[in-house]
Amino acid sequence: MNNYKRYLVTSALPYANGPVHIGHLAGVYVPADIYVRYLRLRGREVKFIGGSDEHGVPITIKARKEGVTPQDIVDKYHLIIKDSFERFGISFDIYSRTSSKIHHQTASDFFRKLYDDGIFIEKTTAQYYDEEAGQFLADRYIVGTCPQCGNENAYGDQCEKCGSTLSPTELINPHSAISGSKPVLRDTTHWYLPLDRYEPWLRRWILEEHREWKTNVYGQCKSWLDGGLQPRAVSRDLDWGVPVPVEGAERKVLYVWFDAPIGYLSNTIELLPDDWERWWKDEETKMVHFIGKDNIVFHCIMFPAMLKAHGGFILPDNVPANEFLNLENDKISTSRNWAVWLHEYLDEFPGKEDVLRYVLCANAPETKDNDFTWNDFQTRNNSELVAVFGNFVNRAVILTHKYFEGRVPPRNTLTPYDEATLNEIPLIKQSLENNIETYHFREALKDAMNLARLGNKYFADTEPWRLAATDRPRVATILNIALQICANCAIAFEPFLPFTTQKLRYILAKTADSWDAFGRTDILAEAHRLNEAQLLFDKIEDDEIEKQKAKLKAAATPPAMPAPAPQKNACTYDDFMKMDIRTATVLEAERVPKTDKLLRLKIDTGMDIRTVVSGIAEHYSPEDIVGRQICLLANLEPRKIKGIESQGMILMAQQADGIMRIVRPDEPLVNGATVC
Ligand code: 2FM
Ligand code: ZN
Repeated sequence: MNNYKRYLVTSALPYANGPVHIGHLAGVYVPADIYVRYLRLRGREVKFIGGSDEHGVPITIKARKEGVTPQDIVDKYHLIIKDSFERFGISFDIYSRTSSKIHHQTASDFFRKLYDDGIFIEKTTAQYYDEEAGQFLADRYIVGTCPQCGNENAYGDQCEKCGSTLSPTELINPHSAISGSKPVLRDTTHWYLPLDRYEPWLRRWILEEHREWKTNVYGQCKSWLDGGLQPRAVSRDLDWGVPVPVEGAERKVLYVWFDAPIGYLSNTIELLPDDWERWWKDEETKMVHFIGKDNIVFHCIMFPAMLKAHGGFILPDNVPANEFLNLENDKISTSRNWAVWLHEYLDEFPGKEDVLRYVLCANAPETKDNDFTWNDFQTRNNSELVAVFGNFVNRAVILTHKYFEGRVPPRNTLTPYDEATLNEIPLIKQSLENNIETYHFREALKDAMNLARLGNKYFADTEPWRLAATDRPRVATILNIALQICANCAIAFEPFLPFTTQKLRYILAKTADSWDAFGRTDILAEAHRLNEAQLLFDKIEDDEIEKQKAKLKAAATPPAMPAPAPQKNACTYDDFMKMDIRTATVLEAERVPKTDKLLRLKIDTGMDIRTVVSGIAEHYSPEDIVGRQICLLANLEPRKIKGIESQGMILMAQQADGIMRIVRPDEPLVNGATVC
């Protein structure tokens, strides 16, 4: 450890416009909770600050869609989120919300101090205004045609079809999502934080003084800084949020990314009204922000610049951001309902909070995006938690009841193997500590599992059940050692699996030990009486997993399909009859070098064998298409494509979203049959 006296740990404030899912948990809340539980066990002074982020445009959009107020939306989801965090054992010291009075006051004062100190640049720019609705339009409220791909439903900040980042004035034919009317440009004044002025300081502070930050975090910061920072608007024309505390700024609120991180401060003030300054102003406090990768720029660049501009506050010591968790090989998407929702998991897997905590930590996206699958969930439960940890503890306790009336037997002469086994424990402890303190939670969990593996192996190698009749003193020693390993597991797993360690302590009839006891080999005194054995984990059967997979698929809404392409101009019967379309079979296929889209195909038309170049390589690989029957426009004039003469065109059906499939006869026919 270092010279810090106390730890202020924050986790990103989730937007209160939907429940939390496994992606949030794996990215932010599980690692943050492991970290604070570890610090508490070590006896450190620590506060874990959480809360809901209740401002921002998406909340107002959801409210409008549902015909309720934004306050109704956040009231509903704040409770759902808070309750599921509690049930899942995320051990916040406070979980508050940014619509609270104290937050509004704190954020408002923060802005005002920067304003009074002349930090902001005041700028007037032309923004879209909806004259029918009588309001300025946030980027998300402006819809139009994407200049990149022609999608008619692109938003003013992004086209969800092609992924381009846009600004509202780039949209073709923009219209208001509120009234449908054509918005007009109208001048509006906003306040900008001059991030460019903080750039030299940020470069030094991050790139030189925080080289130890995770590679993904450091790399993202470097690329922002190398790209050059621009002043960033910290106010918006909106009716929902913290009002801008400046005269004449009616109907303007603080930008959500200005007020949300101040939520960490206001929630600390709410928790410790008389003591918060010690946590935010004393250099001996270590502040750590747990976030997801989409929040890096706000926590590493914008918020530190705000704190620096304000003055008097400490800065984060680290910002351990995780990458994203996918689900069954696809991006988690709340709009498509492709997610495992925490509140549903808790209802459907009662008593299995730790199984999810385990799987999400063991598979956490610490360095790259990772995938959650229900099969992996089952395997990790059955082959790791049940077969290793649960099985080891169960054998130790059952054998103690069987041979020693449930009392910890005495330890007699130790063999070199016993000594070696016991010596492993402090080594595991050391590694686990290093890993947690450097935010390598997956590795730390492996360390804890290694302790359980050590116990299992010790049993497998010493086989006490075979010695019961012949060598009782030896059996006593083996069980004593195994039980000491169990007691160490009860500490080592505490940050990761708090529900399980509570159960384990009950089985061992033990009150909680502090971290200092970890590594000791006499935690359980001789003759100490254990409680009855009970299973720490239960096997998860295939049908439960299949049920979850089916539920996921059934609940997922397919992505909205754009409208089909408009019908083309009329053609005559004779025009159609000019086309000679034949059934044919693909004999060979290969990619055309240096192209992404083209395949060169050898085709049996029943009349001849010919070459066709087709632009379907993004939809079919050569292996996919060889042997397939197709329909070929056979009398299309030959054309040279990339220097290859193409004799015909394969018929494809294409959806409006771009997906293409081969058109072919319902049942295979001979090659050369005419299509009419
Ligand atoms: O990305 C999000 O879900 C944001 N609501 C996180 C905010 S973190 C902090 F700044 F409050
Ligand atoms: Zn587009």
